[in-house]
Amino acid sequence: MSGKNTISRRRFMALSGAGASPLIMAAPKALPARKTVPVSVRIGKEAAHPLPRTQYGCFIEHVGKAIKGGIWAEGEEPDMFMGGVRRELLSAIRSINPALIRYPGGCFADGYHWKDGIGPRSERPVRINRAWAKLGPRIGPLEDNHFGTDEFLELCEATGAEPMITVNVGSGTPQEAAEWVEYVNGSASTGWGAERAKNGHPAPYGVKYWFVGNEIFGVHEIGHRSPAEYVKTFREFARAMRRADPGVKLIPVGDHFPLGTGDPDINRTVLEGTGEDADLLSIHQYVPRMSFANSLRYSAGNLHQTGRESVYYDVMGTLRHMEEFVNKCIRETRTYSPGRTVPLALDEWNLWFDYLEDLVQANYTLRDGVWTASMLNFLHRNAPVVPVANITQMVNCLGVIVSDKHGTFLTPSALVYRLYTENAGEELLHARADSPVLPHHSQLPALDVSATRSGDTLSLFLVNRHYSEPAGVKLVPEGLKLKSAGELRLIRHREPVAKNSVPNPENVKIENKKVELASLKHPSPFSFNLPPHSVACLSVKTEE
Ligand code: AHR
Repeated sequence: MSGKNTISRRRFMALSGAGASPLIMAAPKALPARKTVPVSVRIGKEAAHPLPRTQYGCFIEHVGKAIKGGIWAEGEEPDMFMGGVRRELLSAIRSINPALIRYPGGCFADGYHWKDGIGPRSERPVRINRAWAKLGPRIGPLEDNHFGTDEFLELCEATGAEPMITVNVGSGTPQEAAEWVEYVNGSASTGWGAERAKNGHPAPYGVKYWFVGNEIFGVHEIGHRSPAEYVKTFREFARAMRRADPGVKLIPVGDHFPLGTGDPDINRTVLEGTGEDADLLSIHQYVPRMSFANSLRYSAGNLHQTGRESVYYDVMGTLRHMEEFVNKCIRETRTYSPGRTVPLALDEWNLWFDYLEDLVQANYTLRDGVWTASMLNFLHRNAPVVPVANITQMVNCLGVIVSDKHGTFLTPSALVYRLYTENAGEELLHARADSPVLPHHSQLPALDVSATRSGDTLSLFLVNRHYSEPAGVKLVPEGLKLKSAGELRLIRHREPVAKNSVPNPENVKIENKKVELASLKHPSPFSFNLPPHSVACLSVKTEE
């Protein structure tokens, strides 16, 4: 194999030093010799299930620097997309290629009146951000409404993402929500469709997914109420919204992290109460468990700055909380959906360390990217019941992309997203890693895997969660024949909490190599080393 990015097998051997027959680059020379975690990865020929792209959603909200000063930075540069979006941010969003974008919140949605955000920008009212102003002007800045419905939908069109809208249940009415549906989806001959045409968009946008309120059981939410009260409200909203467009998919609020009413049966009440009207059920989860106490602990422990092993493993351990929560919701939707299983939309998920600062602008590390890749593998495995998922958020506030007047860059979490959206196939294959568990976490294997396929291309996503030890991976294709050349993409860094920054936007990056798998003699297994705290995608063609 030739070409600039091509590494021959011999060169690979030399790079990775003695030991396992190596496919993947060795860790940098400066590191002391380490033990290797032995892992067998078995990949079957049969597909487990299809993988919907809608698992790669993102979320944006009027909070902190997510929109104001992030996505919408009007006047900052002469040539901005729509007059407010930095071109470099547009490219960054395109590069992670989100399948879905959810808007305008989040908590903001339950205090938002959409008519404030249409028409000529200079005439739109300035409002107090009802959801977030109580946490101060950095988190809830004054809302000038210059980024509204049309700006959002144009951004989706420009990035190829499918829009999702959350209507205001907390302080809005069914009629207001139905009018929003008509503005967005009605023909130009309807009252609100005509208004949209007047604003420059004669063709309906055809938005399919609509959330009916957000986290409405939490005492933090505007207009919060009990699940039993909510199901009545939901039915009224559903009737009105479906009159405006019978084709919309409606998503009621389900369980979210424990700031709720204390009702242990939220999902049951909502599933039974909304019946046939629910197309999906919205669930949210953040870890470490979001609380002021935890914020203090994690900020004081300076999680972001240090690479302390125990803190690293604390973060990996939160994967268990995520899995337990989602598995609980899966059990509930299987048990309580009347006559079918209502699919889940995990439309907010991420790490959230510092309660206040992360709402303004977060900056995720490689460790967090390793965590994100583990979550995406988990979602792959559960795709039939969790076909929709949105990482929170897209820009700045809990954002995988950082963008402000100083510059724009992808955090390692966004790099992982990009790795998956670029390479994940259309179906999941059965794959299993026989791996030792992580230190301190008896239920978390050190190596996590998911194998996907599109046509004859197999993409294997491998996450080595071990803090300090490479994984010695033995690949065992079962009934599959792999061709002898492949492509390897790898996200690694010597430092587990390595970050990117404006001066060093590629401190952590995706390394891209063509590789020869000459050592692969069908059907015998082949082996390679995967660096500690790294994420890799190996794409190989299969033979008939
Ligand atoms: O993403 C920030 C907030 O987290 C969202 O507004 C809310 O839905 C969740 O509590």
